[in-house]
Amino acid sequence: MNSFLIQIPFFPEQASNFAVEMDLFYLFLFALTGFFTVLIGVAAVYFLIKYRRRSQGEVPQQIEGHLTLEITWTVVPFVISMFIFAWGAKLYYQMYTDPTDALEIFVTGKQWMWRAQHPDGQREINELHVPLGRRVKLTMTSEDVIHSYYVPAFRTKTDVVPGRYTTTWFTPTKVGTYHLFCAEYCGTQHSGMIGSVVVLDYPDYQAWLRGVPRDKSPAEAGQQFFTSLACNNCHLEGNTGRGPSLQNLFGTEVRLADGSTVKADETYLRQSILNPGAKIVGGYANDMPTFQGLVTEEQVAMIIQYIKSIGPRPAGATTAPKPAAATPSPVAPVAPVAPAAPAAKPAAKPASASPATQQGEQPKQNR
Ligand code: CUA
Repeated sequence: MNSFLIQIPFFPEQASNFAVEMDLFYLFLFALTGFFTVLIGVAAVYFLIKYRRRSQGEVPQQIEGHLTLEITWTVVPFVISMFIFAWGAKLYYQMYTDPTDALEIFVTGKQWMWRAQHPDGQREINELHVPLGRRVKLTMTSEDVIHSYYVPAFRTKTDVVPGRYTTTWFTPTKVGTYHLFCAEYCGTQHSGMIGSVVVLDYPDYQAWLRGVPRDKSPAEAGQQFFTSLACNNCHLEGNTGRGPSLQNLFGTEVRLADGSTVKADETYLRQSILNPGAKIVGGYANDMPTFQGLVTEEQVAMIIQYIKSIGPRPAGATTAPKPAAATPSPVAPVAPVAPAAPAAKPAAKPASASPATQQGEQPKQNR
């Protein structure tokens, strides 16, 4: 596909795998609408003149209908609208079917900024650096109100909703810096909730990864929270603890106490951390405390990354190009009590609490 040929003037650049076809689709709708607007307008004027009343007493000739004409103007619009539906649906499914081999980046929206966590521990605010030609999947949630992650050059726009994960993906096809907007009115500084997405070619991307001060990777940080929040006291390996084992859990089907099953995906894990009573695993009591208010969305995401990291590895799945690991990072990745992450703050409190005291404080829920 040669994006250059159909670059529409005044449109943003075409910088993702979706851009060209999305523009073609738009162009098609525009041309179709234009064609019928002109056709109907011209016909109306022509008939107005042709069949005007020519004398006072003129009585028009009665026309009783025309079957062929009726069928034609029913079938033709039907075929056209079905074509629009099929093309639109195809694009929709492409955009909303997450690839399995993507570079996964976690994004949090917050009044009024965008935060991104890369799989190797790089973090950024109001910027997103992505490699050229690689599928990138964003898993997003909001700390407060609804935002919307909008990159016009990629032709992707996805709502970022508090209390749930939404995802979007794209393959950047052109090196450059592109606008990032919030496309959902979210308060007084909504218009300032902007940033940029930077597409870098492979060597530059490597250099960027190396140049950014690297925190613990989300999985490493998640493991630390897992310990400091005392999750590990109950979720022992081999289902020997009070809670089910989380080893090899991610992506599998979990049988619940009510007999139904649920897939252990990000949404399920998030819910089980924040509202543990919602889905009780079969054979376990409802006595896990909620962690609502004790962990931020970013920390929840880190814990999920940790659980993913101890889950089964789906074939072909990767987290990130591994170069960052090749270059020894300036910070030792597993410094046990590093005060590094600002995110580590709230963890400090429950760290000292034994699971017993925690359950004493909030004796309600579990899964
Ligand atoms: Cu965030 Cu508008």
